[in-house]
Amino acid sequence: MSRTDTASAPAPGLDADTLLSATGVKVHFPIKRGVIFDRTIGHVYAVDGVDLTIKRGQTYGLVGESGCGKSTLGRAILNLEPPTDGSVVFDGVDIASLKGETLRRRRKDIQMVFQDPLSSLDPRQSVESLLIEGMKAHDLAPDAKAANARLRQLLADVGLPAAALHKYPHEFSGGQRQRIGIARALSVEPKLIVADEPVSALDVSVQAQVINLLEDLQEAYGLTYLVIAHDLAVVRHISDRIGVMYLGALVEEAGADDLYARPLHPYTRALMSAVPVPDPLVEDRRERILLTGDLPSPSRPPAGCRFHTRCPWRQETRCDTERPALRPVTLAGVPETHLVACHFAEDIDAGRIQPHAVAAGAVDPSADESADVSFGGPASLTEATGP
Ligand SMILES: Nc1ncnc2c1ncn2[C@@H]1O[C@H](COP(=O)(O)OP(=O)(O)OP(=O)(O)O)[C@@H](O)[C@H]1O
Ligand code: SF4
Ligand SMILES: [Mg+2]
Repeated sequence: MSRTDTASAPAPGLDADTLLSATGVKVHFPIKRGVIFDRTIGHVYAVDGVDLTIKRGQTYGLVGESGCGKSTLGRAILNLEPPTDGSVVFDGVDIASLKGETLRRRRKDIQMVFQDPLSSLDPRQSVESLLIEGMKAHDLAPDAKAANARLRQLLADVGLPAAALHKYPHEFSGGQRQRIGIARALSVEPKLIVADEPVSALDVSVQAQVINLLEDLQEAYGLTYLVIAHDLAVVRHISDRIGVMYLGALVEEAGADDLYARPLHPYTRALMSAVPVPDPLVEDRRERILLTGDLPSPSRPPAGCRFHTRCPWRQETRCDTERPALRPVTLAGVPETHLVACHFAEDIDAGRIQPHAVAAGAVDPSADESADVSFGGPASLTEATGP
């Protein structure tokens, strides 16, 4: 596949290596009630102040529990869900400023791969028709000969035979369907692929094949990925940088190796402690942190640190009242690119604060859903350091 790289000049403050920069992104969904007149009685704070930068040719892995806002953030990055606040600069251009034809053309540069290929691929369209649609829309299939050659190349790229062109999605296995989904994303020569839980619906043996395919394609075509998963093990090997999300915000962000070598946020440590290690000696010594209580509702996120209702290291008052910003830590051996949103990350890492039992908190049914909450403290580094 030939790739014409038409990178625009970087926006002021962004270096040329940055493909995407999200700043202070919030997506708040209004909760409406009423039969005749819709009244807004509260908000779902699905994404609530995220700063995120993705470098060209790299993979950013975004992980967190179900409902923490990963997909909404992915959609906000594509401007499919216009952010309530904040900005997304893609390839030097503020996505929110794009309209009409310019937006349509720009959208081709960011493609999505979904969790369930069967529901994202129209069952009535053959593979050929699914793949050629975008190519035609973006003038990438100038004549039948060129289109045919490109279709065959796309299938070869994703490891499917040319005979697949005349089949329909239901004739393939789950893994093969995901390969078609990836081919469709590739068909318009995107710069960024947002893969939302690309392997969650697949058998474990097939998961590795699809992840390896994404890696091979990245190497061949210089692609940039945002890979969303609820499982740290899925993003571990493919990611250059990993962001851990909890209730609408990033709680830790670091290079993949740094994060695995030294997880600093209590939530990341709990997620990590749930991943078995193949080495029996290491497995025996593995820290196990059991999180009690469910993820609180994003319509009523806890004040202060959002993790305080489940955090085994929670400290009186400050954790309950002051929202920690995502910040570099002052710890020997930890690079300044390793960011964590915890007031006590240094004390926890040094063992000066010990974990304690957490009582599983019941959700208070009398709490007023309509009350918009004041969270205390900045939502992100931008908010903390902004004018
Ligand atoms: N259009 C919408 N209107 C109202 N609430 C929404 C909407 N879309 C998502 N939400 C809510 O926002 C929160 C975050 O949802 P989101 O789908 O982004 O989470 P997720 O991390 O992708 O979860 P999962 O791992 O289950 O896919 C959830 O509480 C969800 O119910
Ligand atoms: S700020 Fe407090 S509650 Fe939040 S993660 Fe750190 S120790 Fe736990
Ligand atoms: Mg999701």
